[in-house]
Amino acid sequence: MRYTTITERLAGLGGAKWEVHALARKLKTQGRDIIELTIGEPDVPTPPELMEIAGTSMRVGRTGYSNGRGEPALLKALSDRYTARRGRKIGTDQIMCFPGTQTTLFAVLHALVEQGDEVLMGDPMYATYEGLVAATGATLVPVPLRPEHGFRMQAADVEARVTPRTRLLFLNSPHNPTGAVLTPAEILALGEVAKKHDLWILCDEVYEDLVFPGTKFTSPLDFPDLAERVIVASSISKSHAAPGFRSGWCVGPAEFCAKLLPLSETMLFGNQPFIADMTAEAVSKPSPVAAGMVERFQRRASLIHDRLDGVAGLRVQRPEAGMFALLDARASGMTGRDFALDLLERGGVALMPGESFGEALGGWLRVGLTQPDELIAAACDRIAAHVGRLQGEAA
Ligand SMILES: Cc1ncc(COP(=O)(O)O)c(C=O)c1O
Repeated sequence: MRYTTITERLAGLGGAKWEVHALARKLKTQGRDIIELTIGEPDVPTPPELMEIAGTSMRVGRTGYSNGRGEPALLKALSDRYTARRGRKIGTDQIMCFPGTQTTLFAVLHALVEQGDEVLMGDPMYATYEGLVAATGATLVPVPLRPEHGFRMQAADVEARVTPRTRLLFLNSPHNPTGAVLTPAEILALGEVAKKHDLWILCDEVYEDLVFPGTKFTSPLDFPDLAERVIVASSISKSHAAPGFRSGWCVGPAEFCAKLLPLSETMLFGNQPFIADMTAEAVSKPSPVAAGMVERFQRRASLIHDRLDGVAGLRVQRPEAGMFALLDARASGMTGRDFALDLLERGGVALMPGESFGEALGGWLRVGLTQPDELIAAACDRIAAHVGRLQGEAA
């Protein structure tokens, strides 16, 4: 039978990246003692009070069709939230609701780029981004995120890669997997490049509420003179430990939202009103779970730093936000994949190879911070023992 080219473009994307994670799960089912730090999901349940709202809303009949833009009460709640946070009026006509950040990014990209266009994106990048761009037929042009700049995207690296085909600059701040948060100066410099070459800026801000103390979050949406070209996407998946609810949105120019509406209507025929009710409540007040996650994830990142930084040539990159720390194992001379497979087999710890997130992270590993402190500490002991063993073997 015949299929379209989108199936070919997306075939094979994804699976190989999760090889170590899949192997770890398999070994665990065989009874092996593995500490799994591969993926990151909120380490607490969705707040019961929010689930209660969704349940009540369902029971009172909020189960009918919605519309392609989002339920009015949720649009209003998001408008209030973004107006307060960004310091300028964000109207309800500047917001569109979707099932999660992932679907939002998928729809937004389809409205802005297509075959023949180029998308500039930081490398390393979140695992699904390659597929998002490939789905549109556009070409992904990686912009290296360098450890010496704290993995924050630099305007000069972007400028050097702009061509007449470049349409969009894709940002992710706070960033997965590096935990980097763009500074106001960096965003302004990136904005200048975008203005000069008339580029859209799309920013995934799903970790906005998981920024660690000592770092200030800034959004490209904060700058009025970028307003006509900036779209941000987010959700309650991380901030409210509610990824299964699939509730996200984008914020951008009103004209852009009007253009996106028919695509949303065609894709979704509206969101779920009972989830919109729960989300409206969630975004109207501070998250009851975000502060706890921030405290635990930052503490665990420090724990990993204290235990492993400098041990047998390992370096630990402290995140500024999010659910992951990075381990620089380049001194071992191994690829991140080989290191991760060997550590899994002989050391009993599962980490994601840096290469799963792009070429720039070759020889690095991503460490999830969502397991309890005792397990993180035990994993550090195992990793330290493993690199000691590697050094002994090399001697
Ligand atoms: C950077 C980034 N963007 C988007 C997502 C998916 O978010 P959502 O659940 O809102 O689709 C994730 C999930 O891990 C992520 O890390």
